[in-house]
Amino acid sequence: MLIIKRPRGTNDLFYESAKKMSFVQNEINKIATIHGFSEIRTPIFESTELFTRGIGEETDIVSKEMFTFLDRGGRSLTLRPENTAAVVRAYLENSLQKEYAMNKLFYIGSMYRGERPQKGRYREFHQFGIECIGSSSYLADVETILLNVAILDSFNITETELVINTVGCPNCKPKYNQALRESLSSEKDNLCETCQVRYDKNILRMLDCKNPTCQEIIKKIPTFYDFVCDECREHFDGLCEELTRLGQAFTINPMLVRGLDYYTKTAFEIQSSNLGAQSAILGGGRYDKLAGMFNNGVDVPAVGSAMGIERLIFMIENEKFIEDRLDVFIIAFKETINHVMPILKRLRANNIKSDFDFDLKSIKSQFKLANKKNAKYTLIIGTDEISKNVCKIRDMDSGDEKEVSLDNIEKELKNK
Ligand code: HAM
Repeated sequence: MLIIKRPRGTNDLFYESAKKMSFVQNEINKIATIHGFSEIRTPIFESTELFTRGIGEETDIVSKEMFTFLDRGGRSLTLRPENTAAVVRAYLENSLQKEYAMNKLFYIGSMYRGERPQKGRYREFHQFGIECIGSSSYLADVETILLNVAILDSFNITETELVINTVGCPNCKPKYNQALRESLSSEKDNLCETCQVRYDKNILRMLDCKNPTCQEIIKKIPTFYDFVCDECREHFDGLCEELTRLGQAFTINPMLVRGLDYYTKTAFEIQSSNLGAQSAILGGGRYDKLAGMFNNGVDVPAVGSAMGIERLIFMIENEKFIEDRLDVFIIAFKETINHVMPILKRLRANNIKSDFDFDLKSIKSQFKLANKKNAKYTLIIGTDEISKNVCKIRDMDSGDEKEVSLDNIEKELKNK
């Protein structure tokens, strides 16, 4: 029995699954670039304080899910559970506002959360994230949403719903929190344990509770739209109008509050019922106050989102993944082995995907391997062929064979 196994909630990717991951990442990279976004790479681990401050002490992520450790110097570090706080840190630390007034950044990378693993929920997972830092225009929100939609469209993922909401700003959010507290005070004892804590510490998160009793209680609370300030309302109206003008369908859901504390104004998710319990394929929103938390209160308006790549891959039809065939598999014998590596070198220098079996087992097993590797052609190098300075090229789909001079292999294959 294997003594050491991979940690719970992590995945090994190889062959098909690794190819799918690379294919998806390359496509996303192309589409983000077409939309004028540039890649940013930040460390996998950061100072713990970055996340506790940025995401919020009371959030599930910070209070329960972070992989935190002390380095040899006793400094507390954390594997990034998300990347928005880190991108904002990098923006400030590298004075990216000097590059552009508005920075349109994207990243693709692994994140770490100690959640209970289930389908679509892992401890190590990958996100494609977008962060537009430096503009307060609702058009930046539209741009963020539309880039995500373009990516889903490119993979033919259609059964999705864009859900949006406004969660307000420090001007109007406290008034709503107060109204919530007052309307729920008589029900506090009936709330689930988690919501009793949320009642005191982060009451807005109760709107998201899946407990049936809490959901019944929440039905009776006032909606945020009665408390939202003029600035937040104008921003939200602008966003909704622009999405409508562009023909982008959406649903407004006043109960959509996200699991990170940094959001102001816009919050959104794209959900799909095909994903089961973990229905959010991506989520995001505006975070105009996050930079100020790291920067002595100097705010920088920003909006962004992150898409779960494992969830995305789960939704992509298998046919979308381009069949990746080997061009040539070389079949040789002990007597002709010396010819294999020089020919392979020539083929590969000509971008012809080629391979062979180091151990030169029986001809049957070499053909079996060629089939398994889905080779379009086999190149057979026997002693007879070598004496004539030729090799046989076999079309593995039709079975047709042709003798070709050893000097013309690349030319012959390139013509096919
Ligand atoms: P989030 O909603 O925590 O937002 O995560 C975004 C997406 O990451 C989710 O919708 C889901 O697809 C994927 N995801 C989250 N946790 C897991 C998990 N344990 N296993 C698999 N996939 C998961 C954020 O992370 C924010 N930083 C998004 C953002 C960027 N907001 C503004 N800018």
